[in-house]
Amino acid sequence: MRKNIVAGNWKMNKNVFEAQQFMFQLLDYKRNNATNCEVYIAPPALYLMMAKDLYKANEIGIFSQDMSEHGSGAYTGEISAGMLESIGATGALIGHSERRQYHGETDSHCNRKIKLALDKGLTPIYCNGETLEQRKSGKHLEVVKNQTEVALFTLSAAEIKKVVIAYEPVWAIGTGETASPDQAQEIHAHIRNLIADKYGKDVADEISILYGGSVKPENAKEIFSKPDIDGGLIGGAALNIVDFSKIIEGFNV
Ligand code: PGA
Repeated sequence: MRKNIVAGNWKMNKNVFEAQQFMFQLLDYKRNNATNCEVYIAPPALYLMMAKDLYKANEIGIFSQDMSEHGSGAYTGEISAGMLESIGATGALIGHSERRQYHGETDSHCNRKIKLALDKGLTPIYCNGETLEQRKSGKHLEVVKNQTEVALFTLSAAEIKKVVIAYEPVWAIGTGETASPDQAQEIHAHIRNLIADKYGKDVADEISILYGGSVKPENAKEIFSKPDIDGGLIGGAALNIVDFSKIIEGFNV
């Protein structure tokens, strides 16, 4: 059965004291509240070890925001899958739209990163989604199809089952604009159908597909209620424990 997941992507926010405070608050919340979803955070890489020290019992999954497409070597500034494995990280975000926009990442890069992550037993959260122009010109289904095929379809069935997908329409990220729950559901079902056509329905049904793009306490519950939406990748609203915990509660009936 696929998992419900709420993941917080901190991006380049919080100094070490703020990061530690939030991590404590989240642990406290998790210990005192029953949750109907897995909870993950993706803090800046600098704070991953601190999170690991705090979440010794793996109460909260720890993700890096990116990962190198190379195994090791002379790649200044990069972090490898092996390094993440060695600190006991849960996984890595791969192909976030900000990595694509500011660092020229493509789905071929994503494909190599996903392979490396899986080889080290990490969970990749593969992000895709169309731009505003692509949606306006009616190309969103085709764009997401191409992204999904290039990034994922060289994987075996056993491998793709371990991938989490995050559909994040670029026009809804950090803009306050949200895809309507129906718009998101349409793409999520589309992605699941593409996977079912290639790998079979059983495989497709096991994959968690998250929605990202201005998820807030006010809209989380309705978004998560859609049949093919298995949770959220949250940016802005994941920086504040009150908002983040309310989004987690979007899964409580
Ligand atoms: P947002 O970011 O929730 O601030 O729109 C989502 C993301 O980029 O993962």
